[in-house]
Amino acid sequence: MKIAIINGPNLNLVGVREPHIYGTTSLTDYLESLRGKYPNVEFSFFQSNHEGDLIDEIQIQGFECEGIVLNAGALTHYSYALADAVRAVETPVIEVHISDVNAREPFRRISVIKDACVAVIAGFGLKSYDMAVEWFIENAN
Ligand code: DQA
Repeated sequence: MKIAIINGPNLNLVGVREPHIYGTTSLTDYLESLRGKYPNVEFSFFQSNHEGDLIDEIQIQGFECEGIVLNAGALTHYSYALADAVRAVETPVIEVHISDVNAREPFRRISVIKDACVAVIAGFGLKSYDMAVEWFIENAN
């Protein structure tokens, strides 16, 4: 099974950025540990601070793999272009967030991509990614 994990703006700084919110583990180290934890899954990891690059990656992975785990960062809250990219592809997408976006500033409670996704997982720290991977494993046809 192939799963793509796609991360948007500022997620390259997880581990350093606002550690009281996002923790002190680097996202790269954490995602690498998933390869050991799920040896039967072929993972691809992608991060970009640029909306168009994220759309390009969704368009590629969206016809290549069985699941996409997408943390679009702040783009979640306003990028209709990303939402359209999610709608445009065949692969199901799960929206994830490290923090509990519903318990933070009001603008974070809005997701313009959630309706295009099969599920939203937020607030479990980096474990949110694991939970999305498990969902795909359990729901694979
Ligand atoms: C985030 C939440 C977003 O509101 C924020 O802009 C991020 C990270 C999260 O993973 O908790 O960059 O997506």
